[in-house]
Formats: sequence, structure tokens, C-alpha cells
Amino acid sequence: MHSLTAQIPELSNSYVCMKDPQKVQETLQAMVKAGSNTLQVISDFDMTLTRFAYNGKRCPTCHNILENSKVISDDCKIKLDELLKTYYPIEIDASRSIEEKLPLMVEWWTKAHELLVAQRIRKDLLATAVHESEAKLRQGHLKLFLDGFKLFFDHLHKHCIPLLIFSAGIGDILEEVIRQAGVFHSNVNVFSNYMDFDESGMLKAFKGELIHIYNKREGALLNTGHFQELRTRPNVLLMGDSLGDLAMADGVHDMENILRIGYLNDKVEERKQSYLDSYDIVLIENETLDVPNAVVHYLT
Ligand code: C5P
Ligand code: MG
Repeated sequence: MHSLTAQIPELSNSYVCMKDPQKVQETLQAMVKAGSNTLQVISDFDMTLTRFAYNGKRCPTCHNILENSKVISDDCKIKLDELLKTYYPIEIDASRSIEEKLPLMVEWWTKAHELLVAQRIRKDLLATAVHESEAKLRQGHLKLFLDGFKLFFDHLHKHCIPLLIFSAGIGDILEEVIRQAGVFHSNVNVFSNYMDFDESGMLKAFKGELIHIYNKREGALLNTGHFQELRTRPNVLLMGDSLGDLAMADGVHDMENILRIGYLNDKVEERKQSYLDSYDIVLIENETLDVPNAVVHYLT
């Protein structure tokens, strides 16, 4: 433990928990030895790359960005909010199994997407909706422009490390968030739910198979063919905030090492043990990218 925190001092912060620091150290060493040209980063988006809360208030997910915007009628906002109040507590309920939650999550996403499609949202209004939203990518503890998400994205780009953002949110919205933040670099690939617009630019449906928080494995396995380079990078840094995010790397062939960093944002006491059992490094109620940035620097 001592030499691990000597190498990466950020891991000694009080919000960092590890069940097996020795294993973390061994994994990190093996990844350094393999070299950064074998590394890829696979990250969830909402509540992993974006903040969970700011000034005591919840920050929006991709879906919330749309829901809170002018492109949605007041009546629809009420219905979407009712869905959130019904299903979000189920999403984070530690007493229910994934099997029990899965059909309910499909129900949530399906109902929400039906409501969004009925709003006939115009593609050309999405950028304004994002611009006017309270979406916030995670910063560093100093809250300098260069110590948080900017450092994270720029550093991976500079070192030619592919970053796959794998999100059950809305691809068009998340792309706009990172584009407006100036970090949608060429090394970034996105798997997500994309909107399908008609010739006049009105939302008519969502494309392809629905991605929700508990089917990221299927998405990973189905999509690997499109991202040939990712198959040849057997060392993975995975970042997520849900236990469903752990399956995001299942499409990587011949995996050699994986280091999983998990943000535990909500229902901490109830979920702490399950996060410690499945994520190598757990960040408890922490809003920064300091640990991922420190790990990425160590590995490159
Ligand atoms: O990017 P990520 O995979 O984390 O996106 C999924 C998140 O979107 C879930 O954690 C869920 O809370 C949220 N969500 C939402 N509104 C919906 C469906 C999902 O805010 N209608
Ligand atoms: Mg998430």
C-alpha cells in the first residue's frame, strides 16, 4: 500500500477505497510494463465523466438535459419527471438484484424515449439545449480548466490512447456536451443511443438496439467489429458509476489487464460493499477526475 500511494499520491485521499491495494499495484505495474500503446480507456458518461452534484444540487444526465430544456413541453416534463421519481430509486436500490431491475429499467428507457419521440424534437435545437443546460464534466480539485476533464481528454489524445465512451444516455446530447467543452478529439469513440431524424430534422425514433444500464455487455459484444483498433489493445482502464458499467469491456478480445475505477455517488452505505467487491478503486462521493487523471499519467 505504501509504495502504491508513493507512486500515485492521489490514492491516499480519504474518498478512495480499495478492497485489495496489492492487486491494484500489480495491475498497474503490469499495465506500465505492457506500454501505453496497448492501453485503452472505456468510460461511462453520465455521473462518471459528468458530475453527480454541484452546490448540493443534482447535475443532469443526458436525458435530463433534454427534459429540462425548451424543446420539451411542460406536460411532457411532468411525465418524464414522474418516470425519474419512479425508476431512479429502483436503479440505485441495493436490495434488488440486477435480474429484478432489468425489466424495469427497460420499461423506464422505453417510456422515456416514447415521450421524447412524441415531442418531435428538432435536431437544430439540441446544441442550444446543451448550451443552456447545467451539464458539467468533472473538474479537478483545484477547479482549474486544466486539471479536470480537459486534462483527461487532452492527455489521452496526446498519447494516442483510444477513449470509448459507452453510455446508456443519448449519443447526440453527450457528443454535444464534449464538443462544446472542446474535448471531442479524434481518439474518442461513442457507443450510445442515437436519435433518428426525418428529412425535415424532426426526431422520429431512436436508432438500433436500446442501450440501458444493464445490457452494456450485449452492446460491447455486438459493436466490437466497428472498432477494430480497440480489439488490439488488451489493457483496459474502465470507469463507471453503476455495476452495469463493469460489462463495458466484455467485447475486448484477449484482455490482459483491467483496472476498474468506480464512482459511488449515491446510497453510499448500502452499496459500498458491492462496489468494493467489483471495482478495484472506489471513489466515494467525490466529484473530481483527480484519481483517473493520476492513474492515466502513471500509465503513460
Ligand atoms: O451514461 P450512462 O450510461 O451513465 O447513462 C445512464 C443514466 O441515465 C442512468 O444512470 C440513469 O439514471 C439516467 N437516465 C435518465 N433518464 C432516463 C433514463 C436514464 O436520467 N429516462
Ligand atoms: Mg453512469
